[in-house]
Amino acid sequence: MELEMERAIVILNYYKNNGNFISMIISHIELKNWRNFQSVNVDLRDRVFLVGPNACGKSNFLDSLRFLRDLAKAGGGLQKAAIDRGGVSKIRSLYARRYPDVEIAIHLSESNAEQPLWRYELGIKQRKGGKNEPIVAYERVWKGDRQIIDRPTKEDENDELRLTQTYLEQINTNAEFREIPKFLESILYLHLIPQLVRHPEAFATPGLSEDPFGRTFLERVAKTPEKTRKARLKKIEDALKLAIPQLKNLTDTKDVMGVPHLEAVYEHWRPGAGKQREDQFSDGTLRLIGLLWSLLETDSLLLLEEPELSLNSAIVSNLPSLIYRLQRPRKRQVILSTHSADLLSDKGIGGEEVLLMTPTPEGTQVKLASSNEQIKMLLEGGLSIADAALPLTAPPAIEQLSLFK
Ligand SMILES: Nc1ncnc2c1ncn2[C@@H]1O[C@H](COP(=O)(O)OP(=O)(O)OP(=O)(O)O)[C@@H](O)[C@H]1O
Ligand SMILES: [Mg+2]
Repeated sequence: MELEMERAIVILNYYKNNGNFISMIISHIELKNWRNFQSVNVDLRDRVFLVGPNACGKSNFLDSLRFLRDLAKAGGGLQKAAIDRGGVSKIRSLYARRYPDVEIAIHLSESNAEQPLWRYELGIKQRKGGKNEPIVAYERVWKGDRQIIDRPTKEDENDELRLTQTYLEQINTNAEFREIPKFLESILYLHLIPQLVRHPEAFATPGLSEDPFGRTFLERVAKTPEKTRKARLKKIEDALKLAIPQLKNLTDTKDVMGVPHLEAVYEHWRPGAGKQREDQFSDGTLRLIGLLWSLLETDSLLLLEEPELSLNSAIVSNLPSLIYRLQRPRKRQVILSTHSADLLSDKGIGGEEVLLMTPTPEGTQVKLASSNEQIKMLLEGGLSIADAALPLTAPPAIEQLSLFK
């Protein structure tokens, strides 16, 4: 605990001294032997749409970024990040031959810049003869063109225990590249489940350090400083007015027990509209509130799982432009998985923003939609991603599903 405090203070001070923190995106990612991918090597834009059939690895792709966040966050680190995922043997791809390293490499850049500001590469293997714990096979950092970290170092070789930790998780080793762990630890992942927002008490899982599913969503709202909170709720209310016109006056309140709630006036046919709390809000209302809140909440990378769930198709088809408008001023990157043709029917989505995931007997292949000549032609001809690319993602024998007895 003391260490965590110390770490927080050091990071805080560091950023006070460097007030000009540049907002960055992950402009490139390489994965090797990560879950169902043998090899991934793609550029990423401000907005990224992960598209492909069920179980092709969309969530696994997002998890590689959550893994980096888990390395960098307070109370995280390599050992915990691996244990939380069932160990290296679960992370390492079943498609991998023998026991190669699991590898993740990223470039961090200013949005749309040519040259990355930072490059970070990590290779992970299992310690031989130990308890199969993960160790750093290599760890490398570049600042611009200059390599500033190259592990294993001599000290690492003399003391193997050092390799059980990455430099990302140690404030005394990452001073030179603190912008990287700082960026990574603020990555936000959202997969809001309305039932958990309504009934958080029924799903208490104390060990869970992350809350992607919204169990503590209302607490998060309540903990936000009042001015920011009110401003955000006002913005959300304005957006909700368009999507769910019956709902007015979105506010937060606390009940007699001090438990935070959201409240809105719900207009119906009877005179004198009634107040409703979140447990009466519809699934779509809650998911939209959660999505909008998250888009307004952070200035760093936002990972979204299937934001279309529970939402009416007219709202879904407006999500890409909504996300675009909210991310733009903050220069923030959004990476989302989706199955929705409505969402992908927005003609503003470019082929270079879409990662197509195709399962093969050698693991899932990941390609930019724009690298496929056929898709590129169709897009140039005025079709949307939904029409140009989505048909390619259907499993080959899917028609037979309707004949299933
Ligand atoms: N280490 C591994 N090696 C190979 N495959 C793995 C590994 N770990 C998980 N998988 C496979 O990855 C698949 C799940 O991928 P994931 O959950 O990312 O799919 P998805 O694209 O998000 O699907 P959905 O659209 O249904 O949410 C499963 O089939 C699982 O067996
Ligand atoms: Mg998934």
